[in-house]
Amino acid sequence: MKRNPALQDLSREHHDALKLARDGKAAALSGDGALIAALAARTVREFEREMEAHFQEEEAGLLPFLKNAGESDLVWRTLADHAALRALAKALRQPDGETLRHFAEVLTSHVRFEERTLFEAAQRHGFAPTDEFSVVAAPTPAAAPPPAAPALHR
Ligand SMILES: [Fe+2]
Ligand SMILES: [Fe+2]
Repeated sequence: MKRNPALQDLSREHHDALKLARDGKAAALSGDGALIAALAARTVREFEREMEAHFQEEEAGLLPFLKNAGESDLVWRTLADHAALRALAKALRQPDGETLRHFAEVLTSHVRFEERTLFEAAQRHGFAPTDEFSVVAAPTPAAAPPPAAPALHR
């Protein structure tokens, strides 16, 4: 299914996440301490600069929308993945091959789940671009009154 505009930016960021996971897994499997340290540092950096904001965007718009639509199981899985990834990214401040491999696996599985299941459900339920901002959007101002009728000439 073609992505609606509200999900396209998130989908683009998923490509970057998959690349990070691929590189992290390769480093972990190499057993090379310097490479593991470099990828652990890159993971912490990308998590703090990009992924955390991506998670918060999903948590502010998409997940409340899906909860309202009755998709509590999908919302629960998403939040559990986010919590696990936040904990693993924090743990990676101390570089470790096994933690890096685990992070890469959870991230890959999380992105696939969102692309194949979560976003498909969002589109099925009619998630619209404006829904993404519904939590933070300012209230719509009341419609302006109709223009006054022109004064009659006496
Ligand atoms: Fe995502
Ligand atoms: Fe997510």
